[in-house]
Amino acid sequence: MSGKSELIISKIRNGVVIDHIPAGRALLVLRLLGISGREGFRVALVMNVESRKLGTKDIVKIEGRELTKDELNLIALVAPTATVNMVRDYEVTSKFKVTMPNVVEGLLKCKNPKCITNQQREPVKSRFRLVSREPLKLVCDYCGTIHELSDIERSLGLV
Ligand code: CTP
Ligand code: ZN
Repeated sequence: MSGKSELIISKIRNGVVIDHIPAGRALLVLRLLGISGREGFRVALVMNVESRKLGTKDIVKIEGRELTKDELNLIALVAPTATVNMVRDYEVTSKFKVTMPNVVEGLLKCKNPKCITNQQREPVKSRFRLVSREPLKLVCDYCGTIHELSDIERSLGLV
């Protein structure tokens, strides 16, 4: 890639590069991967850099943490255009476009306070099903409450 982002953020030796994230969504991507920054491995993040395909985009580079394809596909909820690049010894060894999961378990909090997944006594792991990609809509498997992108942002503590 020859974009100006290369001037801002250097290449990584080993790890994962998540490219073509819609501008402004990099923090959501990190939250969906369960990365707070306190784990200690190296993370580089650029936001709002120019992209030929998207106009502007974000990029996230993660070194020293293994990520499964299932974990990485969660990103598609907030960054359906994202490309994942696995990097080994500075070379991109594999590249794939993320695909939206049909079920999201144990990650997001249902916004319905009465939902069984929000009860203190015997908490049940949350489970959402994808009902619409664009605009994004997830339905709680237990109470049927529909969740949109803004609800996901709230659930991840980003608004
Ligand atoms: N990258 C990196 N460190 C490396 C190799 C690649 O950070 N050692 C980054 C590049 O900066 C780029 C992404 O990984 O953001 C994908 O690299 P590459 O496939 O070389 O770029 P493009 O061909 O432009 O990718 P695409 O066609 O997916 O846009
Ligand atoms: Zn619910």
